Amino acid sequence: MNKTIFSGVQPSGNLHLGNYLGALKNWVALQNQYRCIFCVVDYHAITLKQDPKVLRSKILEIAKLYLAAGINPETAIIFQQSQVSAHTELAWILNTITKTAELQRMTQFKDKAKENKENINMGLFDYPVLMAADILLYNTDLVPVGDDQSQHVELTRVLARRFNSRFKDVFKLPEVYIQKQGARVMGLDDPRKKMSKSASSEFNYVALLDKPAMARKKIMKAVTDSGSEIKFDLRKKPALANLLAIYSLLANVSVQELEARYNGHGYGELKKDLAEVVAKFLAEFQHRFSGFDDQFINNILEQGRQKASAIAAETLTKVKEAIGVA
Ligand code: TYM
Repeated sequence: MNKTIFSGVQPSGNLHLGNYLGALKNWVALQNQYRCIFCVVDYHAITLKQDPKVLRSKILEIAKLYLAAGINPETAIIFQQSQVSAHTELAWILNTITKTAELQRMTQFKDKAKENKENINMGLFDYPVLMAADILLYNTDLVPVGDDQSQHVELTRVLARRFNSRFKDVFKLPEVYIQKQGARVMGLDDPRKKMSKSASSEFNYVALLDKPAMARKKIMKAVTDSGSEIKFDLRKKPALANLLAIYSLLANVSVQELEARYNGHGYGELKKDLAEVVAKFLAEFQHRFSGFDDQFINNILEQGRQKASAIAAETLTKVKEAIGVA
């Protein structure tokens, strides 16, 4: 296996269907063709305030969610970002070739700064540079993420190119991998905004650890558009399009097939069936999730730390030599 995929999830908030459909599901689909490196990006999470005890348990939870989604721990490297110090070291070096104007343009920074006016810290501003370091340390070919991360991967490519031309050809240029469907799962309570773990209403998202009965309720309460025809139309029927995309991906049925199946039926019927699809998916997912104990996960993270450290150290040495500090 000569090509590498790298991706990560922050251990903050409740992981939801958007994270699963936009990222985790694709990791699983790609895992047999690539060397896989999946990170629990805890240093990214602390750019917003976290309760230390909750953070600790969320780190294990995220690793468990990776496994419950179907990541094979025998072949993938699963590790905790803060345990491999090369990430922050490389981020510092990359900082010196990053323009502040480039970071000011980042949509996620602008959004998060708006939502957290009392805590617009340097870490939040620098978030994309740490993400670039994550990716570049592992000679990554492909970065499977949701649509909201494409700007960060583009910046990663800019920084890699800049470093290579200013110093020496050290970094591989990674490609972003974004699926057409599921890359931007929208909020159930507002289809104009993406489903988000930091949403103020829990009716915005279905969490992967929501009780199936709760998930059913959330789907039934999801807003719908005017009209009654079941037709995928992002512009005219954004709420329905979102439900159809979720349905299609979870049940493995094409949107066209769903449109045909619900021809002449109303939104209510579609929602009722989708609620069942989601509840069944969650029940199976959570059954797998509860089968992993903390000790097992800690062992996986420790093995991951060792493997990731070895790869990262090699890249960092090349970087240090290139810039003249080693
Ligand atoms: P995070 O934890 O915010 O999100 C994890 C993954 O879920 C995707 N995602 C979505 N996909 C579809 N619809 C949505 N509504 C939705 N919301 C979130 C995100 O795009 C992401 O793929 N910065 C990253 C974490 C990170 C990373 C990395 C990723 C840090 N370093 C290196 C790849 C490579 C993030 O936002 O995670």
